[in-house]
Amino acid sequence: MVAVAILAAGKGTRMKSDLPKVLHLLAGRSLVERVVDSCKLLQPTKQMVIVGYQGSKVQQGLSHRQGIEFVEQTEQLGTGHAVQQLIPHLENYQGDILVLNGDAPLLRPETLQSLVKIHQTHKNAATLLTANLPNPQGYGRVFCDGNNFITHIVEERDCNQQQKQNSRVNAGIYCFNWQKLAEALPKLSTNNDQKEYYLTEVVDYLDQVMALDVIDYQEINGINDRLQLANAYNILQTRIKEHWMKAGVMMLNPDSITIDETVELQPDVIIEPQTHLRGNTKISAGSRIGPGSLIENSIIGENVTVLYSVVKDSEVGDNSTVGPYAHLRGHANIAASCRVGNFVEIKKSSLGTNTNAAHLAYIGDATLGNRVNIGAGTITANYDGVNKHHTRIGNGAKTGSNSVLVAPVTLGANVTVAAGSVVTQNVGDGSLVIARSRQKEIPDWDKIKR
Ligand code: UD1
Ligand code: CA
Repeated sequence: MVAVAILAAGKGTRMKSDLPKVLHLLAGRSLVERVVDSCKLLQPTKQMVIVGYQGSKVQQGLSHRQGIEFVEQTEQLGTGHAVQQLIPHLENYQGDILVLNGDAPLLRPETLQSLVKIHQTHKNAATLLTANLPNPQGYGRVFCDGNNFITHIVEERDCNQQQKQNSRVNAGIYCFNWQKLAEALPKLSTNNDQKEYYLTEVVDYLDQVMALDVIDYQEINGINDRLQLANAYNILQTRIKEHWMKAGVMMLNPDSITIDETVELQPDVIIEPQTHLRGNTKISAGSRIGPGSLIENSIIGENVTVLYSVVKDSEVGDNSTVGPYAHLRGHANIAASCRVGNFVEIKKSSLGTNTNAAHLAYIGDATLGNRVNIGAGTITANYDGVNKHHTRIGNGAKTGSNSVLVAPVTLGANVTVAAGSVVTQNVGDGSLVIARSRQKEIPDWDKIKR
């Protein structure tokens, strides 16, 4: 039986931000959301988050996560003081408790699972996740006896020169026997450089406390400032990209590519340089994305190419091509085998199969059938200054270059719109519509003028 408590009451002074530290985003999820999610394999009996600085904001930031109990720490007197606040919430609780800093967003669920397991097999009073860091700066140093049991922890600012040489650090991830921890908590002092109650001091009152070195030390990165946040982002990106490359995705120059964890890719997708995949994006086999593209919350079918383009909240069907320099601005639904080309913007519109808009067009609030050809410079004039209106274009219709379709308007199937037309009325199936002034020629103008 294990309960979970996450420390998230601190301001995070070193971030130099108005936003509480644990709400800073890392690839789409806040630090504290990530810590909550890293506990998912444990099936905790109780999940508590200790809040304080801008506590209601932190609560709000977690409102979509189920089953969290918020514990208030009104004054932030240190990590030990934060955990003391749990006492009234865990009366008569007999099990173990996993305590995590809210600023450690890179933990793997498997790591926490093995921490709890080792804690329980050895019947320890406490088991701490530790690591040997090449650069231990900023972390509390962990000192052990010959049997790997922790004797004490010294925060860096309280270390003497010799203690600082110890590169074994406290990750801020602890599994405790709750009964024993509850007995130790009232003994904490503020006898340190910061005059705070340090959770790490409980080690002095507990027996036995085991250190468990994490295999991948990057997991324990605590975020205290923006540099560490950026660094954590890079670590996360490396993890994500390695995962997809192992799953059969080809990446050209992965360093220039970023991918959110929420993205799903099929094998044989090719991601070219300077491409960014965000949100709930799904890309199917054989598609080539980039160079220079941004895809956000979009579904891309098979064998699609997207070149130097932005695709947001949209869908692109199999075998279609997008770009170079196209902008699917939102709710663009492009069916299979379409071409959306150079400098074409599409918003809240659907294109049927085999429909092309290859150059310089704006299509907004429109429904296009199959095999439609949108000529260069075609504009759906969807906005009258107050309201938006819809344009419908039937199967096989063709619009000439530089035509304006003034919505609301419907073009039937196989309509042809002459170049330069301003179409303001509906056009029936099969018609040619010419809506421009007739060309007039005045011969010998050069002589008359003279
Ligand atoms: C802490 C550990 C240090 C460890 C490091 C790992 C202590 C005394 N030190 O140091 O040994 O190496 O984490 O990253 O615990 N918080 C509260 N209430 C408070 C103070 C802090 O909830 O009164 C929360 C913060 O919001 C944060 C977490 O506790 O999420 C850790 O606090 P922080 O100040 O970052 O501790 P460190 O100095 O990094
Ligand atoms: Ca920290």
